[in-house]
Amino acid sequence: MTLVEEIEKLKKEKNAVILAHYYVNDDVQAIADYIGDSYYLAKVAVDLKESTIVFAGVSFMGESAKILNPDKTVLMPDITADCPMAHMADVERIRKVREEYEDVAVACYINSTAELKMHSDVCVTSANALKIVKELPNKNIYFIPDENLGRYIAEKVPEKNFIFNDGFCHVHKNITTDMIKHAKKRHPEAEVLVHPECTLDVLEMADYIGSTSGIIEHATSSDKKEFIIGTELGVLYQLEQKNPDKLFYSAGGAQICPNMKKVTLEKIRDCLRDGSGVVEVDDDKRERSLKPLKKMLELAAV
Ligand code: 13P
Ligand code: SF4
Repeated sequence: MTLVEEIEKLKKEKNAVILAHYYVNDDVQAIADYIGDSYYLAKVAVDLKESTIVFAGVSFMGESAKILNPDKTVLMPDITADCPMAHMADVERIRKVREEYEDVAVACYINSTAELKMHSDVCVTSANALKIVKELPNKNIYFIPDENLGRYIAEKVPEKNFIFNDGFCHVHKNITTDMIKHAKKRHPEAEVLVHPECTLDVLEMADYIGSTSGIIEHATSSDKKEFIIGTELGVLYQLEQKNPDKLFYSAGGAQICPNMKKVTLEKIRDCLRDGSGVVEVDDDKRERSLKPLKKMLELAAV
């Protein structure tokens, strides 16, 4: 039996479904039941009929799936696959900001620990942050943990006052304006598509800014034939599958998230077979972090 056949068999035996983010390895995306950006995966996780969810992604994703599905078993193929940015804010500072600004709303990027979510008012993803922040009645917004996404949204909502936090994604921060300049020189016809986790100077050079699914949708519907990609290069798998006649170039650096790449087919087989990598969230944390996640799903759907 091949590894893929083994996984299929185990999935049936264990009544399991596989969710994967666009940044995981190509062979994992190829066998996933649902592939998407963080917003899509959170939405999908709410309506699954299977009793076990295997999350091919990083820990905040598995944790969010568990918070939304307390009665299901959620398995992470590699429990050490973690997003460093998810830890780059702190509860003490949230308390201080709440004391300082009476009407503040704490908007928490979904790339965060459950601990941070439970002290926040609403979660957002790069696909829905603008819509959600606009919907909030609060004038003051404390945006955690990602400074770059926060600053990008703040520019679009000048009527609000943003308080920033200094978190960042190392993969996107490493994409520089020099890299984009060189890539444009090499490929003058190409459109530049970037993720809002990039720094503002890089965003200023882009033809399109959006979440991973936004980037894929934009390239797929565009009349252009060439694109410079300013995000993690796992998106190339879907971009090339959907657009065999188009050309995609890396912005130039090592745009690889080592944590996303920890998820392999072998580890998916092992966690299904052994029931390993179980995600646990204690009841208090789960109940309190469910509120901002639910609020995100409600406001994004309006
Ligand atoms: P999206 O898929 O929501 O664009 O998020 C990108 C990301 O960095 C996930 O870790
Ligand atoms: Fe975190 Fe960046 Fe990796 Fe996404 S790409 S999981 S934000 S380190």
